[in-house]
Amino acid sequence: METDQKNELKMISSYEDYHTKYEQSVKDPESFWSEIANTFVWHQKWDKVLAYDWEIPTTKWFTNAKLNITENCLDRHLEFRADQTAIIWEPNDPSQPSKKYTYRELHAKVCQFANVLKNKGIQKGDRVCIYMPMVVELTVAMLACARIGAVHSIVFAGFSSEALATRINDSSCKMLITADGAYRGTKNIPLKNIVDEALKRCPIIESTIILKNTAQDIHWVPGRDSWWHLESMDVSNYCEAEIMDAEDPLFILYTSGSTGKPKGMVHTIAGYMVYTSFSFLNVFQYQQGDIYWCTADIGWITGHSYIVYGPLAVGATSVIFEGIPNYPGYDRFWQVCEKHQVSHFYTAPTAIRALKKHPSSLVEKYDLSCLKVLGTVGEPINVEAWQWYNDIVGNNNCPIVDTWWQTETGGIMISSLAGVTPQKSTFATLPLPGIQPTLLTPKGTELSEKEAEGILAIKFPWPGMARTIYGDHNRYKKVYFSAYPGYYFPGDGALRDIDGNYRITGRVDDVIIVSGHNLGTAPIENAINQHPLVVESALVSYPHEIKGNALYAYVITYDKDEKEENLHKEIKEIVSRLVGPIAKPDKIQIVTGLPKTRSGKIMRRILRKIANNDIASIGDTSTLLNPDVVNDIIKNKK
Ligand code: WTA
Repeated sequence: METDQKNELKMISSYEDYHTKYEQSVKDPESFWSEIANTFVWHQKWDKVLAYDWEIPTTKWFTNAKLNITENCLDRHLEFRADQTAIIWEPNDPSQPSKKYTYRELHAKVCQFANVLKNKGIQKGDRVCIYMPMVVELTVAMLACARIGAVHSIVFAGFSSEALATRINDSSCKMLITADGAYRGTKNIPLKNIVDEALKRCPIIESTIILKNTAQDIHWVPGRDSWWHLESMDVSNYCEAEIMDAEDPLFILYTSGSTGKPKGMVHTIAGYMVYTSFSFLNVFQYQQGDIYWCTADIGWITGHSYIVYGPLAVGATSVIFEGIPNYPGYDRFWQVCEKHQVSHFYTAPTAIRALKKHPSSLVEKYDLSCLKVLGTVGEPINVEAWQWYNDIVGNNNCPIVDTWWQTETGGIMISSLAGVTPQKSTFATLPLPGIQPTLLTPKGTELSEKEAEGILAIKFPWPGMARTIYGDHNRYKKVYFSAYPGYYFPGDGALRDIDGNYRITGRVDDVIIVSGHNLGTAPIENAINQHPLVVESALVSYPHEIKGNALYAYVITYDKDEKEENLHKEIKEIVSRLVGPIAKPDKIQIVTGLPKTRSGKIMRRILRKIANNDIASIGDTSTLLNPDVVNDIIKNKK
């Protein structure tokens, strides 16, 4: 292993320094990124820092370099911080003890489980699906895959059996790692039952490993199922790391698209490692001794990049929380912050809005003087929520980083650097060094003025970007590189102020973000259409005080006499079963028709305005195929 301990990943520590680094990253991206990459542990360094052609599109970072990401996240810390806490685990039930794992302990657990995977026949390149609660074993499972070169595909444990099966089959996973059940507030979710249902449709799964978590009764499939604890008995915790190529896949993570099935974004090892570490350290200004807590679930990209890989790669101490913000009370987050002396707290605007509805005494009763930096992610934060976060949680004393990024970008793209670059409420602010955003007109012309509003696009590759959609490179090209040739198109709109700060204004496609979760309209409409009485449906969003956006479904049915209440209930159940509870429509309206263009395209713009009670601005409907339908829908809206 080539390592250079003197050469630590350095932090940008002043606004001036930010500008210098930013300029360097644009002028000479290869030397900028190689300097950062040099601070990691490699078995072999790269031939070339960057090779790309976005017409194909292809992007390769650190070509021919060899490494294992777990040696960077674990082994290299054994020399200097083996006994430092890597993970603090806080259980759902506050009366149960929390647990701490040092780097030495985590390393041993990962190596042992890596051997279990090998014993079960998992090899380099195999895909392994992980469907688990927020327990430390989830992190162990993902790092164990990385240790032996298997590709993990984590499915958020709130997803339904259908959603799980689709994802397992799409990337032909050989193995599934799960738990008997998951605690979530007062609920006990029967994960294994959901898995059994899913696996009826997944013949390619050869084996499952089940963690005993809730100790509830489960159905057992002999020959397929095995217990985590029994498989680990007497297994060595020494496991040589598989030497991987920089561009080998590290994981697949599904995200919703505006049409069709979910997209399995593929992230590769070296670029992702370099980018998540660099962005973690600089955005949060994490220093040794700090306690960092990101409340996301590891089943989403925020958990992958900023609970697991980024923090571990730089040797941080990170909290993993099994529970939810309102159990046993709406003060749980603050209780945990005080208990573990959290210095860096990173959450979603939806959680902030939900907690803000409750008396601020629930925050103020805790001593939160430990907090140094606050962060948000996943959706635009409104000014009221920002203010409350700043005043009540941060006591006017903590910089807030509003971090814009995506599953596809791998890491934070636009954000202030805590306390180093200026913040501006509701603005993600400035791009990180190495990131070259721009604004485009709908026709694709760059808006050259500083102050502008348009479609957000990225002009140049960065190491953390997803390299393809698993099994469908054409779709990758079509979705991200064809709308505006020569640019990466994230699907968001943005505006820019005179100082170059970006404010993300929301999606410009048919993805709807509800409580920070990306939902495509197509899979939800498909689920609604599965109801035997449904002819057709259209789903749009309307603003919601807490969730940011809520879902409004317009549904045409065959049977006008069916009791509406029953129908609403059944439609919600179907969506919950086929997509997941987070995708249940908040409002359903039974309609006689949907407004359509003469070419048969549903006019969602009109449906959105009706859902938003913005009738006055609907405008001329006379060119529609069926203009009368609009009045009908408005008349019958409840
Ligand atoms: C939205 C989450 C405004 C955006 C890391 C993006 C945001 C989508 C912000 C990606 C933010 C994320 N301000 N909008 N700070 N962060 N978004 O893939 O629309 O779950 O395209 O990744 O969330 O969601 P994803």
